[in-house]
Amino acid sequence: MIWYPYEQMKTMKTPYKIVDAEGVYLYTEDQKLIDSVSSWWSVIHGYKHPQLNEAIETQLKKFAHVMLGGLTHESAQKLSDKLQSWLPGDLDYCFFSDSGSVAVEVALKMALQYYMNRGETGRTMVLALEHAYHGDTFKTMEVGDDEDYHFVLNAYGESKYVVHIPTEIQALEQAFEQYHDRLNCMIVEPLLQGAGGMRMYDVSFLQRARQLCDQYGVLLIFDEVATGFGRTGNRFVADLVLPDILVLGKALTGGYIGHAATVANRRVFEGFYDDNPEHALMHGPTFMGNALACSVALKSIELFEQQDYMEKIRRIEEITRREMEGFTDPRVKEVRIMGACVCIEVYDPETIRGYQQFAYERGVFSRPFLNYLYAMVPYVIQEEELVKVLRTMQEWFIK
Ligand SMILES: Cc1ncc(COP(=O)(O)O)c(C=O)c1O
Repeated sequence: MIWYPYEQMKTMKTPYKIVDAEGVYLYTEDQKLIDSVSSWWSVIHGYKHPQLNEAIETQLKKFAHVMLGGLTHESAQKLSDKLQSWLPGDLDYCFFSDSGSVAVEVALKMALQYYMNRGETGRTMVLALEHAYHGDTFKTMEVGDDEDYHFVLNAYGESKYVVHIPTEIQALEQAFEQYHDRLNCMIVEPLLQGAGGMRMYDVSFLQRARQLCDQYGVLLIFDEVATGFGRTGNRFVADLVLPDILVLGKALTGGYIGHAATVANRRVFEGFYDDNPEHALMHGPTFMGNALACSVALKSIELFEQQDYMEKIRRIEEITRREMEGFTDPRVKEVRIMGACVCIEVYDPETIRGYQQFAYERGVFSRPFLNYLYAMVPYVIQEEELVKVLRTMQEWFIK
């Protein structure tokens, strides 16, 4: 049987069975649903996109996959070239992997080894944020800070390798003062912390983090697995503040195939590039650079550019602000909006229990968690579809 994610299998509610999907819609046997979650924030172009399908089919006629150990191929090369020219600054060195969690692991390993290669073996610590979520593998759980996901780590007690701070400049400055010579990196979900509760914070925090990282020689990692490709209203937050390592996943392939990239700048790459074989980055997921994933990722970026997705995202934000204006309820703590993300935070998780079925009956798929009722819609959504998603969220409170 399938063991489902984040669920107590004994009590979980039967999942909705999807039999077809097209555009922003998921189809069950008896319902047509707008996917307000974009399949965990990844399906930015919607489902069954003709050009994305075609890109995969074309590649499939050649081959589906070859390993990158000792081999290479055109789709991986083209994608790495495209990312090199498309990403800001000198984020030019692209390491592929098969999921966001693994790509974050790679980033953390790069940062640690960067200093090991220089003989600075005392820099074993990572500065991370409170409420951070970076994935479910062990090191990403350790830099994450979410009891609700990762309470199993309590078995190990508090990590001496990770410090968590709130997104406040004073806390940031204090942490650097205290730990700067032991830190190899600072890792953040920039501007928008997703799984930790759709928490939004100001760019000034990132600007100060960049300054302090420069001052103390600490590497800055942006985990843009969730925020990348427009979600915050910026193409990448890295366009505003430049990190040393950028992690991309989810929407990289338009949500078609699990794939991710850890993109390093020249300084990081050069920390590995010498005659000593021990200074090589010892990592190599079997499916890194998968040809189907790379070909669909290339097409996804092409669509993003050619069809002015940033304008679509601006429009989504505008409609969302218009529709949510004036919405209040005593059970609601806060309504947060950034780019193509909206979150209603309630005081008590009980308030939104049952919402998923309520939304289902009204033709919307939603997956609230904890105290958060949110939408991260596919960017191709039409105005009336988005309005339906947002009104359904509000109707729950007036029903
Ligand atoms: C910010 C962030 N980093 C990493 C991950 C992990 O990505 P994956 O689920 O592809 O391993 C996620 C997933 O939600 C995420 O939101």
